[in-house]
Amino acid sequence: MNKNLVFNFNLVNENFDGHTPKMAMIIENGLISWIGPQSKIPKKVKFKKEIDLKKKKIMPAFIECHTHTVFAGSRADEFELRNTGTSYLDIAKKGGGILSTMKKTRTASAKELLAITQERVNNFMKQGVATIEIKSGYALDLKNEIKTLEVINKVKGARVVSTFLGAHAKPPEYDSYGKYLEFLAEKVLPVVKKKKLSNRVDIFIEKNFFEVPESRTYLSAAKRLGFEVTIHANQLSFSGGAELALELGAQSADHVINLTDETIQYFGRNKTVAVLLPAADLYMKCAYPPARQLIDSGATVALATDYNPGTCPTQDLSLVGLLARLEMKMTLPEVFKAYTINAAKALGIDQEEGSLAVGKRANFISTDAELTDFFYSAGAMPEHELFIRGSRTLVG
Ligand code: NIG
Ligand code: FE
Repeated sequence: MNKNLVFNFNLVNENFDGHTPKMAMIIENGLISWIGPQSKIPKKVKFKKEIDLKKKKIMPAFIECHTHTVFAGSRADEFELRNTGTSYLDIAKKGGGILSTMKKTRTASAKELLAITQERVNNFMKQGVATIEIKSGYALDLKNEIKTLEVINKVKGARVVSTFLGAHAKPPEYDSYGKYLEFLAEKVLPVVKKKKLSNRVDIFIEKNFFEVPESRTYLSAAKRLGFEVTIHANQLSFSGGAELALELGAQSADHVINLTDETIQYFGRNKTVAVLLPAADLYMKCAYPPARQLIDSGATVALATDYNPGTCPTQDLSLVGLLARLEMKMTLPEVFKAYTINAAKALGIDQEEGSLAVGKRANFISTDAELTDFFYSAGAMPEHELFIRGSRTLVG
């Protein structure tokens, strides 16, 4: 018998607009096997452990669906440069940006990288995050991209979804973007697959980075190998990345700031999730993505930090939600959905988590706070506890 009971809680509704009091759930091997009114807890069942949540509210744990959490060093010096007028693309052209983080990440040992990555993952968990997507992409060679993915797969506590972003930038060893992508498709993707290090492939499609035709060839090769795909798309320009994501049935298109009305409608008819990253837009002084139009067109919209040393050196979920509310006309329930079920959809794990339903992981947040206390104060997630697969986490 391996059943635990969690009881005496107020269950936040799926629409995040209220809650149902006096609820209970049974958890077996970390999964919800029953959820319903406390008065209907099946009799005769003996529980290994019973947890009284003392009338706290519970809601699904957050899912951070776009991060670049494994990197060495900092780019604080570049922030000052960007802030005094040098553009992101100009810094990149001079070998700064992603390539400067690449140098430090290549030379860092797996042990060092794992220690800093675990600390950062703990910082996400402290904010109620049970699942975190982490991309590789700061090594850009076979040996060190594999090292990065192995580090990602060694993280403890939270569930980590790893994504291969070898196509983040062109390393100096290659003189053409196309040739580098051929190398990734032929020499790296098969190793990633064989070692089961990731089942998702991402690419940065942007002016002065990867372009659509070569990206289409690369992502199609990735799909033939059995990878799901996702794209950093339409961040700094109308790059065509979002349209390619829709064409290929990508799990998500991320950033998506520069969108035509036609593409917005295309999202509305499609399952590809638009992952919006407003904290990066704040740091980049970009426009914010057209969240309202996307949601009104029927698109699935998720939110994430984009945590990385260049465009988003913050892990603050509250800031992300706050910007979505203040600058992108998203309602509070839309922000909660964007950080739970829609984020799960972006990662293709919505059958396993993202809401509290039978068969799903018992990943939840319990709190005495009001829903309106969330995504209200930057840098301050209301007091809460995080449960992963039914167990209280220590960092929560
Ligand atoms: O999502 N745009 C590409 N990748 C990251 C930035 C990476 C970096 O500057 O280090 C992003 O914004
Ligand atoms: Fe990113």
